[in-house]
Amino acid sequence: MHSIHFETIDSTNAWLKRHWNVQPDMTFVRADYQRQGRGRGQRRWFSQPDENLMFSLLIKDGQLMAKHQLISLVSAFSIAQLLEEQGLKSVMIKWPNDVYAEDKKICGILLEGVSQNELQCLIIGIGLNVNQLVFEGEYLREPASMYQLTGRKYDISQLAFRAYAILMKNLNGLKQGEDFLPRLRQLNYLQDRLVSAMIDGNRKTVVVRGLNDDGSLKVEVDGQETDVTSGEISFHV
Ligand code: BTN
Repeated sequence: MHSIHFETIDSTNAWLKRHWNVQPDMTFVRADYQRQGRGRGQRRWFSQPDENLMFSLLIKDGQLMAKHQLISLVSAFSIAQLLEEQGLKSVMIKWPNDVYAEDKKICGILLEGVSQNELQCLIIGIGLNVNQLVFEGEYLREPASMYQLTGRKYDISQLAFRAYAILMKNLNGLKQGEDFLPRLRQLNYLQDRLVSAMIDGNRKTVVVRGLNDDGSLKVEVDGQETDVTSGEISFHV
């Protein structure tokens, strides 16, 4: 395991974006605190020092990178497995890459790529709320931590070790052609929900009908089925 641990860093994703070319495939970079933690859609990711698990994993293997649409789902699935193993209840995946427990967001994933003509590497950035009790900021839905949901405090280093082991196993499985779709479909938090999605550049209210084999989301809009491949999905409120 090639692992790098920072007490403080700007962002583990940003660090790997700067150093990917001299780091081996599957380098694991963890930080106790990020000064400029990054979330999806230009948002920030806030985490109090030493309270949560924050890491990034570097993927340079071309065979795996070709499956990028499924990588974020399989990463979310890996965190869902970790949470179930730790006794968390009602763990689901909110497409494409959040993990929910008891209807609250407990983990966010930011997948970034580095391209120079073609894709050079992928960086999977994972933030899991572990022991933090108070969340500040503007949230559509209040997030939660493992501690809040179970009343137990967790050893973050141990969780990091397990997260790495589970991710390695599953990403290797994905590379070898293992079929995660039945399990991903079972954990689809958005199934049959009314959500708001970007369709052809317009925000629309849609009903989620399922997960396609390529990892895209099947939705129904104005009585017709269409696929959503990326972008923001938010709850219809
Ligand atoms: C989201 O918006 O839900 C995604 C959040 C991803 C946060 C993690 S924490 C480790 C890694 N480094 C970052 O700067 N962001 C990701």
